[in-house]
Amino acid sequence: MKIAISGKGGVGKSTFAANLVREFAERGFNVYAVDADPDVSLGATLGLDPADLERLKPVIDMKAVVDERSGGGGGALYNLNPKVDDLIDDFTLQQGNIKFLRMGAVKQGGTACYCKENSFLYAVLSSLLLDKNDVVVMDMSAGIEHLTRGTSRGVDMLIIVTEPTRVSVQTTRVVQRLAAELGIKQVKVLVNKVRTEKEREFVSSQFTEAELLALLPFDEGVLENALAEASGLLSGTGVMPGVDKIVDEILQEVER
Ligand SMILES: Nc1ncnc2c1ncn2[C@@H]1O[C@H](COP(=O)(O)OP(=O)(O)OP(=O)(O)O)[C@@H](O)[C@H]1O
Ligand SMILES: [Mg+2]
Repeated sequence: MKIAISGKGGVGKSTFAANLVREFAERGFNVYAVDADPDVSLGATLGLDPADLERLKPVIDMKAVVDERSGGGGGALYNLNPKVDDLIDDFTLQQGNIKFLRMGAVKQGGTACYCKENSFLYAVLSSLLLDKNDVVVMDMSAGIEHLTRGTSRGVDMLIIVTEPTRVSVQTTRVVQRLAAELGIKQVKVLVNKVRTEKEREFVSSQFTEAELLALLPFDEGVLENALAEASGLLSGTGVMPGVDKIVDEILQEVER
C-alpha cells in the first residue's frame, strides 16, 4: 500500500506522516518512510539519529551508479529490478521494521528539464517490491509542483492535510482537483490542529463526510515533542491522538 501526504506549508504533513509510520510499524507492517521533501524533516520528526540522517545518501545519488552499471545509456525507462535491489540498502536507514529513504533534491523549473531525475526517483519507488505487509508513506513538500503523474503513480491514497482555515481549504481544493486529474484512486482530507467548535463547524460546512478522513485536534504534547531536542515519537512521546483510528480507516478504505 502506498500513501502520499500533501498539503500547504506548515499544516503538519511531516508530523502526520511520521505518526502514520509509527502506527503502521507498531502494528507489525514493514514501513518505507520516504522523505520526498527536499527540505528534509521526516527523519528528524520520526526521531531518527541525527548523525545517521546526516550520513544517509539521497536516492537521487543512486542514479550515477545505475547509469554506470547500465553503460551510461540512461534510457528513458529504467528496468531497476533486480539491478538495484542490492543497491537500495546503501540508501536506507533501518530502524526495527521501518526503512527510511530520502529522495533528495531535484532542481525544478527554469528551462532545463529534470524529467530523467524525476523518473529515476519514481522508478526506484515503484521498484520497492511490496508484499501485503508493506506500506510506503511518502511525505511530500508543500505546493503542487511535486504532484505529477510520476509521483502519483501507484499511490493508493493521497491524504491532503489542511488546517481549519479558508486559505488552507482553498489550497486543499486545488490539490483535490489536480489529484482527480492525475487519476489518484483515493483522495482524502485530513483536518489538523482543530481547536474549537467553531472550527469543527467550519470544516463540516466545507467538506462532505466522504471527503474527510478525520479531524485531529491541536495537541500540546505534539508541539512539545517538536520543541524537544530530539523527537521521541518512536519511543512513544508526542504521539498524535487519533492516528490509530485513522490507520483502521485507511486499511478499510484501501481494501475496499
Ligand atoms: N495536531 C497538532 N497539534 C499541535 N502542533 C502540531 C500538530 N500538528 C503539527 N503540529 C506542529 O506544527 C508544526 C508544523 O508541522 P510540520 O512540520 O509537520 O508541517 P509540514 O506541513 O510538514 O511543514 P512543511 O510544509 O514545512 O514541510 C510543527 O511544529 C508541529 O509540531
Ligand atoms: Mg514537512
